[in-house]
Parts: sequence; structure tokens; C-alpha cells
Amino acid sequence: MLRHLHPIVAANRAPLALQPADPYRGTPERLVKGSGGLVTGLSTLAATTEAVWVAVARDEADRMLMERGDPAELVTEDGTAYRVAFVDPGREAYELYYSVISNPLLWFIQHYLWDLAREPVVDGSTQEAWTKGYLAVNELVAEQVVRQARASRQTPLVFVQDYQLYCVPAMVRNELRDVRIQHFVHVPWPTPQYWSILPRRMRDAIVDGMLGADVIGFQTSRDVRNFLMTCEDNLGLTVDMRERTVLYEGRAIWVRNYPISIDVNELTRLAERPEVLAEERSIAEWRPKHLILRVDRTDLSKNIVRGFLAYERMLEAHRELHGDVVFWAFLQPSRQDIDDYRAYLGNVLGVAARINRTYSRGGWTPIRVEVEENMERAAAAYKSFDVLLVNPIYDGMNLVAKEGPLINRTCGVLVLSENAGSHEELGRHAITVNPFDVDETAEALYLGLTMDQQQRQQRQEGIREIVRTNDISRWISLQLQDLRELIG
Ligand code: G6P
Repeated sequence: MLRHLHPIVAANRAPLALQPADPYRGTPERLVKGSGGLVTGLSTLAATTEAVWVAVARDEADRMLMERGDPAELVTEDGTAYRVAFVDPGREAYELYYSVISNPLLWFIQHYLWDLAREPVVDGSTQEAWTKGYLAVNELVAEQVVRQARASRQTPLVFVQDYQLYCVPAMVRNELRDVRIQHFVHVPWPTPQYWSILPRRMRDAIVDGMLGADVIGFQTSRDVRNFLMTCEDNLGLTVDMRERTVLYEGRAIWVRNYPISIDVNELTRLAERPEVLAEERSIAEWRPKHLILRVDRTDLSKNIVRGFLAYERMLEAHRELHGDVVFWAFLQPSRQDIDDYRAYLGNVLGVAARINRTYSRGGWTPIRVEVEENMERAAAAYKSFDVLLVNPIYDGMNLVAKEGPLINRTCGVLVLSENAGSHEELGRHAITVNPFDVDETAEALYLGLTMDQQQRQQRQEGIREIVRTNDISRWISLQLQDLRELIG
């Protein structure tokens, strides 16, 4: 179906990042795949459809890439080719758009993270950040999409991504008559009541912006329902809950859920790379009898501190495990230019250090925290865990829950939050926890460690089966199928 269409992806992040050469260390320039669930899911779509990927220049390294063309033809070190067209809003506008409005304001709303008795305080500076940051960057991205669309004779098919770019669909539609637009939201969509934290002008602009699309995609059926209710309750629009459509300016917009997934072949191949095998050998040197693992960005939504508290309770209740178990938190630094995120990482490290001070003995340290971005090491960790803890407060999907069990070699068990989007698919093969309940999580960790071999294997096979059948190519084909049906 893409034969007569010109695919364009628009996302805040580029699919790759430049690590410039370092003459002091003697390291060469590297082009590596970007991080986060969005890039993991989308890069296959971009590479297979040869789409132009419109992204916002986030730092100096992105600005250097920007000079290589419009779009720049870039090949990552794993051999994947991308065409990336950057826009550069400048540091100040980027800061307002990214560090004030998108994160934390929208991110915290969409993950129910605000401590509402105290925060957020919305005032004139929020309005200014909205106009000079969020709307201005959305406008730049929309203009670049329109430019790229006009450079081709084919009908543009625009895949707009996530909460940073809610206003782009309507802006693009205003400029292009013949266009197909799909907006995919990677994060949860909260209830209409929770959206009313935002002033009406802002929250309505978000939904109006999204309704510029033909299809709006979410991760789960719960997100779809919440979005339809938001259209009805907050904007007074006509929605059809059964058909999952919103009537808007004479068009019927489809609202669907497409659970995002991973590239099964790519991850399976990565798991066998020599770098991963080397990491595995280094892990084997300290790996205890029982290994609990978590792999996460250092994001407040991931609930890292309660995970440690649950582990502490397990250690309290099961002294027989002392010396034989380690909880390894392998964390990727995230959004460290935002105060709340820096403070959170401090909190994570502080709680781990306190637990280690209380329980360490005779060379045994119960928690191991590593803060590092290293996909090879993460893959080696996935291969080695006995229990994988994925306990987010709320999460759009959470791909760690899919990646870990797929390549694990030790019949590891998944402990999974009922509020992770992936719970809708994988819940019946995982041990489910309420992410706020640290006693329940402690019991789940213990149950995971002590479960018999046959059960562990059955559960892991169950998850693998689902991930293999619903891998990233299916995520893409389901969306294309709907677009085909819609376009006719
Ligand atoms: C989540 C979001 C993405 C984002 C990623 C990494 O997966 O849904 O939109 O790219 O986190 O966050 P960052 O702010 O570093 O791009």
C-alpha cells in the first residue's frame, strides 16, 4: 500500500545519536541507535518504508548531524540506513518545549505522577512555555513535514509520534490538502478529569491538534476508551464508543489500539553478538545463586524506589536468602536536565545505599546499581535474570517486559505491574503486582525466585509465544491495514 505514498515519520527524537570522536581517549565517531521505547519500535518502520524521519535537534551532536543534509542520509553502526530531517528551534525554545511542557507537565499528567495537593502550579510562565516552546516547536516540525511532503509527487503518509507533538497533525492538515496522517501515542491516556489539571485552552488545543489525524493510535484498549471519553466530556464532541470514532469537522477519526512491540529477529541476533557474550562472562563472575533484575530509564514513572523497598521487605522476611541473592538495577540516565529527574535519581541511589548499609555482610552487597546506557550489557543481563521486576506506576507499554523474557536463558519469571500497558497482553503469564503495594511486590519477588522449574518455563514460553506472534512487524502491518481500509 505504500507504493503510491510518501511516508514521513515525525518524532521529537531522531532514531540515532552521534557520539563524536574523542581525540583524547582516541575513540572514533559512532552513530548509535537512540534510546527509549519510541525509537525501539519506530526504527523498523522507518528503515523498512525508507521514510524521511523529521526530528528536533536536541543538542550539539544533533546539530552536527543536521549539517549533513536535509534530509541527512545516515547509517548506524549496525548497518541500518535512515533519512533524518532535523529542525532546530534553538536552546531556549527547546528547553521550554521539552523540559517545561513535555516533561514534566504532560508526562506527569499522562502517568498520573503529580502530587496534586502541591503541584503543578500553573501560571503565566506555563502559558509562555506553551506558546514560545511547545507550539513554536510543533509549528517548526509541521513546516518541515510539509516541506518534505512537497518534495515528493506522491501523497504524503505522515506518522506523528507521541506527546511532544500533539499539535502537529492539525498544523499539517491545514497546509496539505491530500494527506494521510496517523498519530500514535506511546504513553497512557488518562481520564478526562485528570486532563482538567491543564487550563482549557491548552488541553483543548492538544485534542484539536490530534484530531487533525485520520487515525489516532494508542497502546491499549483502556487508552482508547479514555481518549473517547475525553473528546466527549471535555470537548463536547460526538463519539461512537462501539465504532471507536470521533466526529470532527465533518470527518470521522478512527481511534484504535496497536500494542507496540520489539524487533524479535534483531534482538535475537544481538543476544548472540560477541560483545554480549563478553558481558555475560563478566556478569558470571559476580552473579549470585539468585538474580533479580530491573532495566529502566531513571524515570519517576518506573517506580524504582518502591522496587527496592519491596526487596528490602523480602530480605527481612527471608533471612535464608541473605548472601545468595542480588537485586541488580541497570538504569539508563534520563532527562537529567529536569530537576525532578535529577532529584529522583538521587533518591534511587540514596535508598539503595541505605539498604546496602543495613544488610551487607561478609562481602555480600544486596543491591547493585549501575547507571549506564549500554544495550549489549542490558542484553546480557536479560539473558541472566531469575526474576525481572517491571513495576511501573503507569506505563504506556514497557518493552523491557517483552525484551527480557524473549532472550532469557535461565527460565526467568516476570513480575509485572498491572498498570503497565504490556500487562494487557502478558499479564496471564506474569506474576501481577499492584505497583504501590510493596508487601505484595515482596511476595511476588519471593514467589518468582522459588517457583518450580516447570512453571517458570511454561510462563516464559507463554510470553515468548505472544511476543513472537505480535512482534514489531505486526504492529506496523495492523496500522497499515487500518489505513488501507480507511483510504480505500
Ligand atoms: C518514552 C517516550 C518517548 C521518549 C522516550 C525517551 O518512551 O514515549 O517519546 O522518546 O521515553 O525519553 P526522552 O525524553 O529521552 O526522549
